[in-house]
Amino acid sequence: MSNLIDILDLSVEEIDGLISVANDIIENPGKYAKACEGKILATLFFEPSTRTRLSFESAMLSLGGSVLGFSEAGSSSTAKGESCADTIRTVNCYADIIAMRHPKEGAPVVAAKASHIPIINAGDGGHFHPTQTLTDLLTISRHKGRLNDLTIGICGDLKFGRTVHSLIAAFARYTGIKFVLISPEELCVPEYVKTETLDKKGIPYKEVRTLEEAMPELDILYMTRIQRERFADPAEYERLKNSFVLDLPKLENAKPDLCIMHPLPRVNEISTKVDNDPRACYFDQALCGKYIRMALILKLLAETPMLLSEVPETEQEEMLINKVFCENPRCITSVEQEIDHIFHYTDKENGICRCAYCEAQKKI
Ligand code: CP
Repeated sequence: MSNLIDILDLSVEEIDGLISVANDIIENPGKYAKACEGKILATLFFEPSTRTRLSFESAMLSLGGSVLGFSEAGSSSTAKGESCADTIRTVNCYADIIAMRHPKEGAPVVAAKASHIPIINAGDGGHFHPTQTLTDLLTISRHKGRLNDLTIGICGDLKFGRTVHSLIAAFARYTGIKFVLISPEELCVPEYVKTETLDKKGIPYKEVRTLEEAMPELDILYMTRIQRERFADPAEYERLKNSFVLDLPKLENAKPDLCIMHPLPRVNEISTKVDNDPRACYFDQALCGKYIRMALILKLLAETPMLLSEVPETEQEEMLINKVFCENPRCITSVEQEIDHIFHYTDKENGICRCAYCEAQKKI
């Protein structure tokens, strides 16, 4: 692995290794202070961020490296119409590793195909956010001492919340996991997450509509923001935006060692009165994000990059190139006309295939 696009690019053993390095960094920061001397991280953020971009930059600086980049598409040549691939090829001339966030799903796949240096997906639309998941796993392992045998409640926008999709995919590989999915009906987990991850792996889950009914059994409560920027209809966002607000009365029936998490930013989902409760872990979670990203930068810079276009032919056999076209308006193919539309079969017998960028499913 020399890119991180999807949390499943990492094996469970590799994740354990990253957590172990992150813990060592926390214990012995001086040991790593010059580990990336002479190396440059580019942070290319085509979409807003506080934690992810600044924790990546803080991580690289704490490793003795340097950083460059942009924090909005409008201050890059994207505003003049430059393609994602050309931006990446250009930044390959100036940096050793790239962390990128993009509003279009699958943009990091386009980047990885064009890059000779490692690409880290720092969030692509409503799709994936794998370094947030690494952050979450480090936080949970430090607070609970384990990543197995947990009942995990995920609350809020489970449809567009990219952190949710990566978190479920990651925990699906651990044992003794049970999910309680807490959302309005309109914002429940996409069907493919249920059928292809939860059902396929036999992971117990239930869907509920209130925090109160979920609370007593939870070891982890993972709150999320309703993702205003992903709604096509602003009125629908207004109707749903305050669906869940965690306050102290709602915690009355919670376990004493509950771990309350939120990838942040919060808008109104957690009352500030909860911040002083010892079960509130979300600002520690933000801190963990720096240490796990330090471990990830070290790992990726130590590996030999392999271009996505160099994937062995046997793995490309089932690909359909420019024979099926992606209709997802959030897919990178919807804005960049020169990208080949690539689908691969997930169920050839029934003609089911999936976009290689955004994973939208099609029947042909
Ligand atoms: N958790 C997270 O991705 O936060 P930012 O949007 O501030 O990076």
